Amino acid sequence: MFAHLPTALLLLLCTTSASTLSLHTPRDSQASADYAKDALFKSTILNVTNTYRKQHNATSLKWNDTLADFAKDWSEKCNFEHSGGPNGENLSSGYPNASQSIIAWGHERVDYDFKKGEFTHETGHFSQLVWKATKTVGCGRTECDGQDKGKAPGWFVVCEYYPPGNVIGSFVENVQAKVPRDEQPDGPSDPDVPEQEPDAKECPQGGDCSSGVRMGVSSLAVAVWAAVWWL
Ligand SMILES: *[C@@H]1O[C@H](CO)[C@@H](O)[C@H](O)[C@H]1NC(C)=O
Ligand SMILES: *[C@@H]1O[C@H](CO)[C@@H](O)[C@H](O)[C@H]1NC(C)=O
Ligand SMILES: *[C@@H]1O[C@H](CO)[C@@H](O)[C@H](O)[C@H]1NC(C)=O
Ligand SMILES: *[C@@H]1O[C@H](CO)[C@@H](O)[C@H](O)[C@H]1NC(C)=O
Ligand SMILES: *[C@@H]1O[C@H](CO)[C@@H](O)[C@H](O)[C@H]1NC(C)=O
Repeated sequence: MFAHLPTALLLLLCTTSASTLSLHTPRDSQASADYAKDALFKSTILNVTNTYRKQHNATSLKWNDTLADFAKDWSEKCNFEHSGGPNGENLSSGYPNASQSIIAWGHERVDYDFKKGEFTHETGHFSQLVWKATKTVGCGRTECDGQDKGKAPGWFVVCEYYPPGNVIGSFVENVQAKVPRDEQPDGPSDPDVPEQEPDAKECPQGGDCSSGVRMGVSSLAVAVWAAVWWL
């Protein structure tokens, strides 16, 4: 019960700092609604994630509070690198809203080779997102200032997956090509496809565009590595 108290406080702090910063980054106030509110963040993550999963014949993920707590703790450190924890984990930073953060991962499917069924750094977020054997997800997010070296730019989103995906040797059976609407599990996805391109053209929320954090979508994983090296 008391575990919820720090969450509420953090939310308050985030809201305060977002409005303070909005003088310099005017897009914040309109862009961060699904970052700022816990319930909206959770439903957005589940909605976009499960839309992709349906399309790739994977059953919907349920929210896992244990994973969400872990993800939140890690996001608060604002280090744009993996936690080294036991779960599947995807990171994103600097996207204008939570749905764009997930779409950035889902969009990697344009580069995924479903016949080969292999891990690549360019498609590792997507394959985890739609991994059939994964059943639960929990995510956290923190607005990091993005200015210090090694820090995540803008809103830092961390998602944990259990059981973890991207298990070498199991890609073909776990990452399936798109199936027709009428063959999607538990009814067709609606809206059909979150096909908007992630907002990759601007430097989102004050991240430093000159040092590699302005990520090309299909090379997001590369950008993660690049950011870790360069920052
Ligand atoms: C996503 O949200 C829309 C609009 O609220 C809803 O119709 C749809 O069923 C949701 N999709 C999933 C996969 O939850
Ligand atoms: C979807 O997956 C299930 C089980 O993984 C499989 O039995 C079914 O044939 C698949 N559907 C399509 C359209 O590939
Ligand atoms: C939630 O995730 C944890 C791993 O952190 C796992 O042990 C637990 O079984 C998961 N809960 C469900 C309902 O799958
Ligand atoms: C995304 O998550 C998967 C599963 O944990 C991981 O293998 C992959 O390295 C992650 N990619 C990035 C760049 O975070
Ligand atoms: C998220 O941001 C993108 C790009 O700015 C915008 O097109 C989209 O409508 C936003 N979605 C939500 C749910 O706010």
